[in-house]
Amino acid sequence: MVKLKIDGQEVSVDNGTTILRAAQKLGINIPTLCYHEDLPPTGNCGICVVEQKGGKTVRACSTPVVEGMEIFTRTPSLLRARKTVIELLLSNHPNDCLECPKNGVCELQKIAASLGIRKISFEHIDRTITQIDDSSPSIILRPSYCIQCGRCTQVCQNVQNVHALETSFRGFHSFVGPTMERVLDESECVKCGQCSAACPVGAIVEKDDTSLVLNALNNPELVVVAQEAPAVRVALGEEFGLPVGTNVVKKMYTALRRLGFKYIFDTNFGADLTIMEEAAEFVEIFKENPDEFPLITSCCPSWVDYLEKFFPDLILHFSTAKSPHQMVGTMVKTYWAQKMNIPPEKIFLVSVMPCTAKKYEIDRMEDMYASGYKDVNATITTRELARMLKQVGIDLPSCEDGEADSPLGEYSGAGTIFGASGGVMEAALRTAYYYITGKELPSPDIPFVRGTRGIKEGEIEVLGKKIRIAVASGLSNVEKILLKVREAKENKKEMPYHFIEVMACFGGCVGGGGQPYGSTIKKREIRAQALYNEDKSLAHRESHNNPSIQKLYKEFLEKPLSTKSKKYLHTHYIPRPLFKGVHGGKWRE
Ligand code: SF4
Ligand code: SF4
Ligand code: SF4
Ligand code: FES
Repeated sequence: MVKLKIDGQEVSVDNGTTILRAAQKLGINIPTLCYHEDLPPTGNCGICVVEQKGGKTVRACSTPVVEGMEIFTRTPSLLRARKTVIELLLSNHPNDCLECPKNGVCELQKIAASLGIRKISFEHIDRTITQIDDSSPSIILRPSYCIQCGRCTQVCQNVQNVHALETSFRGFHSFVGPTMERVLDESECVKCGQCSAACPVGAIVEKDDTSLVLNALNNPELVVVAQEAPAVRVALGEEFGLPVGTNVVKKMYTALRRLGFKYIFDTNFGADLTIMEEAAEFVEIFKENPDEFPLITSCCPSWVDYLEKFFPDLILHFSTAKSPHQMVGTMVKTYWAQKMNIPPEKIFLVSVMPCTAKKYEIDRMEDMYASGYKDVNATITTRELARMLKQVGIDLPSCEDGEADSPLGEYSGAGTIFGASGGVMEAALRTAYYYITGKELPSPDIPFVRGTRGIKEGEIEVLGKKIRIAVASGLSNVEKILLKVREAKENKKEMPYHFIEVMACFGGCVGGGGQPYGSTIKKREIRAQALYNEDKSLAHRESHNNPSIQKLYKEFLEKPLSTKSKKYLHTHYIPRPLFKGVHGGKWRE
């Protein structure tokens, strides 16, 4: 332990702790901007500057404590220095806050306000990089708003290992953008949106589809239907000041009805359906084609994009089951439309997702039109739904509990844990075990696949055979698992795994790129736990025991992997080039 004094108060912390963390332990708030608690500190911005006894200034976010150190965090000269840092940033910032998508949630705006900045002492100079890159279906780059904090490049390069973003040029002309001056859609970006979740200002934001949805809601010709992903229910409340991990699913149903949605279904139902199909694929390989192991899960569109670009040689191992919201989409426009006698072209289906990549997925290929129409018409993120509710004055916490509509609104515990890394695997094993043995798993809980470790491995025994499992989240972790599979394949060695679950976002969808800002690993853990709590509370914990799923197969799909199921619920994959072409110079005016 190391003992030091901060602003006259003594504190003891572990060796290697930064001054920032030690100050937090005392409840002393040092402002930060480039720092993110889950990323290694870069020391880029200088806002967290503090003074050591003797007058030396250091950056609190990246300086480790030393025994006997005495630190001051709020001397007049420090406050002046922090104001200067912010004023310099504002001197070449667009400063059009009222029109910025991050207005009200921008970290730069908040720090400027807390430091009491009323005027900028430096001459304003416009940035040379002003063009907006809206080529991606998922996120928008607005480089003139960038404050060079480096969080996005750290996330894209180190956490996701995609390397789509880099800082180009130096000094005043430097900007963050896709490598080789491409536009995003031509780059290797896999649309996970983690950069948008990390960006403290309005330089990277999700593509806003709220107007599209509001227009549909105001069109009397349309029947507008909503579905909500598992992870949304345990995060949306944060936007309304509720504690992290509050499950607001029933309030959300009511809020969506008040917004004008005519019918509310639940993506958790789709998750149960995905499991029925994916577990059936597993059983087919287990019984008939063990050489085709491993089977790799497919419900994350960012991961699908990554696989098609970076590991196309493993496409054969990929489950062809569509993601849950796409399955709900096709079933709404076929099975349900027929039941209700509503022409499918009149249905406008909106998915509320924790995810920016789902905006890409709904048009990924012709399979997303399996009903004969666009299966999902629009997707909005958790953040966008919160904005829509706030725009029309719906206060989520005051909404009474509501219910989803039948039959595509009923779900099992297996469906709800999809939102956490390991949840898809746990849900699939519950059903695959039942398919193979005719019995339920002795306990539906599979602890080794839970938690926010990047890679989780373990085995379960089915009919005397050991099934080797891997669960990976965060694409840099995914790569490690896939390289092992590729190596075994190329050298004709025994496969290291039989079943692999992959989620592009670290911790799974609870930490998706479209979730409320300020997502940390701690928050992801709490949100995931809320899903496991819901799983325990539900009447059915296995997808195959969901009565509405049983009815759907009986009335419409016949059985998992039937011709009809394959037509509506499965997709295919194609190798895609890493880069679509070199645009060159698009950023430069
Ligand atoms: S969306 Fe994901 S892959 Fe694309 S630039 Fe951002 S972090 Fe990188
Ligand atoms: S785009 Fe955002 S996250 Fe990336 S360096 Fe600029 S300000 Fe930071
Ligand atoms: S892990 Fe979830 S939120 Fe993240 S890209 Fe995949 S599906 Fe979207
Ligand atoms: S927060 Fe410490 S240098 Fe930016």
